[in-house]
Amino acid sequence: MAAPEIRLNIFELVSSLAKTLDMMSPVIADHHLRVAYISFRIAQELNWPSDERRELVLAGALHDIGAFSLTERLNLLDFEYAQPGKHSMAGYLLLKRFPPFEGMADLVRFHHLPWGNGTGIMRKGVTVPRGSHALNLADRIAILLSRDRPTLAQVNDIREAITRLKGQVFEPDMVEAFLRLASKDYFWLEILSDRVEYTIGKAAGFQLKEMTLTDLIEFSKLMCQVIDFKSEFTATHSSGVAAVSMALARFMGFSDIECQMINVSANLHDLGKLAIPSEILEKAGKLDDDERNVMRTHVYFTHQILDPIEALSVIKSWAALHQERLNGTGYPFRYTREELPLVSRLVAVADVFVAITENRPYRNGMGKDRAIGLLKKMTEEKELEPLVVKVLLEHFDSINDTRIAAQEKAISEYEEFILAMEEE
Ligand SMILES: [Fe+2]
Ligand SMILES: [Fe+2]
Ligand SMILES: [Fe+2]
Repeated sequence: MAAPEIRLNIFELVSSLAKTLDMMSPVIADHHLRVAYISFRIAQELNWPSDERRELVLAGALHDIGAFSLTERLNLLDFEYAQPGKHSMAGYLLLKRFPPFEGMADLVRFHHLPWGNGTGIMRKGVTVPRGSHALNLADRIAILLSRDRPTLAQVNDIREAITRLKGQVFEPDMVEAFLRLASKDYFWLEILSDRVEYTIGKAAGFQLKEMTLTDLIEFSKLMCQVIDFKSEFTATHSSGVAAVSMALARFMGFSDIECQMINVSANLHDLGKLAIPSEILEKAGKLDDDERNVMRTHVYFTHQILDPIEALSVIKSWAALHQERLNGTGYPFRYTREELPLVSRLVAVADVFVAITENRPYRNGMGKDRAIGLLKKMTEEKELEPLVVKVLLEHFDSINDTRIAAQEKAISEYEEFILAMEEE
């Protein structure tokens, strides 16, 4: 297999992630894209350079990525909410690990910092980028605008609410730019439009760009942490699945490039958990029926996020089919063995293996004998692929050591992340 040519529009990828982040509840639907849109228009009104505007759009689309729980997301809808908490720092720490996102990370870090009549230009000796202040303003405008009343009937109230905080919370030139925009109907109608994504993409001028396989691996590692760090309970899961998938792939003779693509797919297999509130991920012990039904939607969301991105179609099929079972009892498509690519079946085995052997805060993982027993049973019941399970059982100790090493590395990264947040 030759190195794949990955040409994608970064906005397409980021907006797909953004929409998933907002699926936690209908109340926050499209929040990220609305903030991206409003901050873009403010920057455009102020004649900021187009590169800076595009970066602002991407930051707007992911600005609350560090707010993991539904409670946090709902609290942020309160206009006067005084404690935005640690989600800005969490978002910053996660995003900055991927070099192309570093600029966005800086914007996200300070997106709740008040202007403070000018003191908001610096924070703890660090210069605050002006884009952070644009995000703060855009975020508050977005939460004031509701779908429950006719859009244009709300304009005056929102203008007044924002003007009252000019200087104290919001940067004055940005407020002026907003007031100029506020007199134009299209500005308001586009915020709530179903086509807001299309409007931003077109206006900001994002282009298809070449992404190398190395970029893609780095991006998938970033997402792997965003997914896993949502909860202490899952903090190392995707890292474990990625390491085991690659080890299986090597033993099965996949090429180097295929192994790297498998790494990307495994890192992204639980991407849809972005739509699952951490309250469910963090529940100790068994989920009730409603919670289980919410939880099982995550695989479909993995599919849904990756589906619009043509260049990632192979990655998508390898990542999003990890809950399918050979006998057709899996989900979300109920595919059978003939319909499942070998790598999808491989990732499914890796996912089960890691899930049963990893320790969780409320229980220890299974020991070798029990794990082997369960894997054999699931193979006999035609859930898991025998070709893959055979390789796993032949190399059990070595693959298990690989898993443990990867998860130990991930847990120390997680602890570093928690510590850095506490320092803030
Ligand atoms: Fe926020
Ligand atoms: Fe927000
Ligand atoms: Fe999963």
